[in-house]
Amino acid sequence: MRFLAGKADIQNINDSSLVLFCVEGNPGRNRVLKEIDRNLGGTIRAVYDSNEFAGQLNQTVVIHTSGRAAFGRLILAGLGPKKALKPDCYRQAAGTMARLGAVRRSSSLGIYFGENESAEYAKAIVEGFILGRYCLDDYKSEKKHDDITDTVTFYSPNKAHVVRLEKGIKSGEIIGGGASLTRTLSAMPGNDLTPRKFVSRAQKLAQKYNFQCKALDEKHIRAERMNAYLGVARGSAEPPRFLILEYRGGRAKAKPIVLIGKGITFDSGGISLKPGLDMQEMKSDMTGGAIVLAAIMTATRLGLKQNIIGLVPLAENLPSGNALKPGDIITSRKGKTIEIINTDAEGRLILIDALDYANEFNPQAVIDICTLTGGAMYILGYWGALLMGNNDRLKDLIRSASEASAENVWELPIWDGQRKWIKSDIADLKNSGGKPATSITAAAFLEACIGDWPWAHIDIASVDIEKYGQPYVPKGHTGFGFRLIMELLSNWKKA
Ligand code: BES
Ligand code: MN
Ligand code: ZN
Repeated sequence: MRFLAGKADIQNINDSSLVLFCVEGNPGRNRVLKEIDRNLGGTIRAVYDSNEFAGQLNQTVVIHTSGRAAFGRLILAGLGPKKALKPDCYRQAAGTMARLGAVRRSSSLGIYFGENESAEYAKAIVEGFILGRYCLDDYKSEKKHDDITDTVTFYSPNKAHVVRLEKGIKSGEIIGGGASLTRTLSAMPGNDLTPRKFVSRAQKLAQKYNFQCKALDEKHIRAERMNAYLGVARGSAEPPRFLILEYRGGRAKAKPIVLIGKGITFDSGGISLKPGLDMQEMKSDMTGGAIVLAAIMTATRLGLKQNIIGLVPLAENLPSGNALKPGDIITSRKGKTIEIINTDAEGRLILIDALDYANEFNPQAVIDICTLTGGAMYILGYWGALLMGNNDRLKDLIRSASEASAENVWELPIWDGQRKWIKSDIADLKNSGGKPATSITAAAFLEACIGDWPWAHIDIASVDIEKYGQPYVPKGHTGFGFRLIMELLSNWKKA
């Protein structure tokens, strides 16, 4: 499928279908609708008059033109009220429209864009289209090939507008590609995405798009004294890999932004074994890592003007005769001794060694993103991720990115009470504080191991899997957090 832009007047568009995005309200006030309706003999007016379509968000209607226009169908896609219009309305409307039978059966699709519709909206439409259509069928032996859409073309009567649209379309495609990659990695089963296989995928992408990629094996991880991380990894026969990605788009001397993603390719809980129900979902305990890989790839493709490092500690958390046990005491890279209370609190163990390793890059800021605590779900339900951190400026930047991406985050505090709650009687820290404020004590644990830099922690455990299906988020692995991180990186200001 290709996304294009071209100069054309309505009369000359001869695609299989033409889409018009419409805000709520009287079609008589829409110049383009009025013009088309003349040729269609009042059909649009009839559709509005019969209340089949009023422009409400995610409302659609398909009208066959039956020879009365050069395009075969007219599709109206509702955006909701004009006063609430924002890019996410277009993203949603595009996701809904992309999944319609009439659109799937259109080999060429035109989208008519009036001159006041910005490139930002074109970008949102492309994202919504790609993400709405997203479907992982790699593991199906029979593929359902009912999508025949070959081109999606944005039309404007104004040449300069077309040039602006082209830029928006290009970045929408790149963002859509990164988000799709995140979803795919997230959904891949543990046997097909082991730490080593994750690395070999990263290496292929690094070669294709030209960013730096290396991976530390067990020996090197040990040489780095990342013993909290190794403690988690040692229960599995699959060896761990510490992935280091590097994109340098900024000035040579500019301090990098470091992104850290949790990369547990399967979390059984270890000796503190999880209950069996829905344990298969723990194959996506590496979504944070997928986001970081996709973000470095996407930053490269967009040519962002920042230096960005991605760190992904990859491991499986399994029980075995060699696994970490409750009561064990291990020492992190930073030199903190940690009493293991619960081997299922493994994410924080691998993350603190990655956080300490971040010091090697003299970062201007560090952001970790991870499916860290089931408790996130009890706080926000499935409708947002948790944000914690030590720097208001960085948190504000993340809130703006959240607004722009329509990926909700909400801040929780870290108080001294919670910091004290994870102190161990026998060691410096314990890896679980049990039930009270689990999401916060997990963050307090990470905070105890950071360096002297602005830090933010985003817990995406609550939003990793979509239960029902939304306009551009099909049921399944969402890739939530990727677009948020890309908005943050694209509009980066020093924290
Ligand atoms: N990977 C899980 C968190 C999780 C749970 C993510 C459900 C997505 C859905 C994490 O490693 C974990 O097991 N956390 C425990 C910590 C507890 C033992 C302190 C949790 O949240 O229950
Ligand atoms: Mn766990
Ligand atoms: Zn986990």
